[in-house]
Amino acid sequence: MFLLDINFILDVITGRSVNSDRYNKLLMELIESDTACISVSSIPTIEYIVKKNYRTSLEKLNGLLTVLRKVKTPSYVDLTSPLAKYDIEDYLVELSAGSISAAVITGDKDFIKKSDIAVHPDTLLEYGIDYKKNKINFIDLKRQYHNIYSEVERNIDRVLNHGQYIMGPEIAEFEAKLAKFAGTKYCYTVSDGTKALLIAMMALGIKAGDEVITTPFTFIATGEMIALLGAKPVFVDIDPKTYNINPALIETAITDKTRAIMPVSLYGQCADMDTINEIASRHGLPVIEDGAQSFGAVYKKRRSCGLSTIGCTSFFPSKPLGCYGDGGAVFTNDDAIAEKIKWIRVHGQDRRYHHPLIGINGRFDTLQAGIMLPKLEVFRSECNQRKKIGDKYSKLLNKTCKNVITPFIEKHNTSVYAQYTIQVENREEVAGKLNAAGIPTAVHYPIPLNLQPVFAYLDQGPGSFPLAEAAAKSVMSLPMHPYLTDEEIGRIADVLAGY
Ligand SMILES: Cc1ncc(COP(=O)(O)O)c(C=O)c1O
Repeated sequence: MFLLDINFILDVITGRSVNSDRYNKLLMELIESDTACISVSSIPTIEYIVKKNYRTSLEKLNGLLTVLRKVKTPSYVDLTSPLAKYDIEDYLVELSAGSISAAVITGDKDFIKKSDIAVHPDTLLEYGIDYKKNKINFIDLKRQYHNIYSEVERNIDRVLNHGQYIMGPEIAEFEAKLAKFAGTKYCYTVSDGTKALLIAMMALGIKAGDEVITTPFTFIATGEMIALLGAKPVFVDIDPKTYNINPALIETAITDKTRAIMPVSLYGQCADMDTINEIASRHGLPVIEDGAQSFGAVYKKRRSCGLSTIGCTSFFPSKPLGCYGDGGAVFTNDDAIAEKIKWIRVHGQDRRYHHPLIGINGRFDTLQAGIMLPKLEVFRSECNQRKKIGDKYSKLLNKTCKNVITPFIEKHNTSVYAQYTIQVENREEVAGKLNAAGIPTAVHYPIPLNLQPVFAYLDQGPGSFPLAEAAAKSVMSLPMHPYLTDEEIGRIADVLAGY
């Protein structure tokens, strides 16, 4: 992001500088990449100057103001800071830019000397507008924020002003929109994805001594919540192509203690839900989809979290639909289950201070719901971007790498690539090479749940789930977010080429 100082805008629109044409080209490039901003505090000043001294440029200014992103002037001013003492306007411009981590483009050499974030337009013309972007982020939440910050700011202000921080009106609005998105009758937001799983199982009455069938190749929360209720996680090995639970192995794991099947839609691709639902319905069992990583994914033209008895997701910041803290949601079409979820989320309360069930405090914050509303608006297009980026990665890697296994996405699925996860034999070496090139990687997950110390009591040591254990040794996730550029994907693929 680049915040334009008044002198730079005047140079461009009035033609007053010998560099006006070059600066105009730079400005066009910034507008095209949607990275050009102006501090709202600069608008009256520049209008005044143009009306007074450059009347013929007024139309140009007005046109420009409609396309520039507007950035607030924060209220947290420090009038004793050196820049504020030197020039209060420069200080306010710097403060605005700082609020969205933007650089300031200014021709004022003194401003540049006094500010770490001010840059001369000639520097950008010489080194390009990407001059600082050498390091690739694993997940880049800032780029999304830059897209939606005005709406986020407006909603935060709204919540802070109405003051209904718990279960305020933004919660119901967000839940209605989420349910519509997932195609379910009900959606209840909750405090995090882990609690979503807990509440789902509590709503089904799962308790000590019960068994829940799930995958060992997942984040700890899946098995952890089963165990927290005193139930036994019964692991079933994975399909090594999709990394999701292998439905063909589920039936033999069902006993008279089984109370639910809990597949995980790992890395952003749904498990084979119809097959799992069919097995479950033959045995009269409910299915809880752990869709923490797959919200937004499509399975046979239907969306993740709307595919089984209950769907659960997480809004952890790095998830495909992430908030600015912890959050999650539970989805269902079942009236009776929905009522229980609603009660359990608030201490098992059906009406004020009346508690027919044991519940928890599992509510989502109104402030987060306000933040999520604009995030949900861009989510569809972000899901499309994720798909495009995943496809692009796979195309490049399949062309240049012999020993890299790229994600396998079933024909009836689209993945939201919560992770773009490849398999390599020499993971340490490959990660080291990528890291040296400024490309971070991660492993999701290095230890399957059956080998976690906390589940040692299940006595399912090495070799119990050979496919999950093999995947855990070789999977590696590459940077993935909807704002990854072709250039960045190309750079990553170049480092991997030859493996
Ligand atoms: C598969 C899976 N299940 C559950 C969770 C728990 O979600 P949260 O971190 O929001 O509690 C996560 C989050 O990392 C996850 O990836």
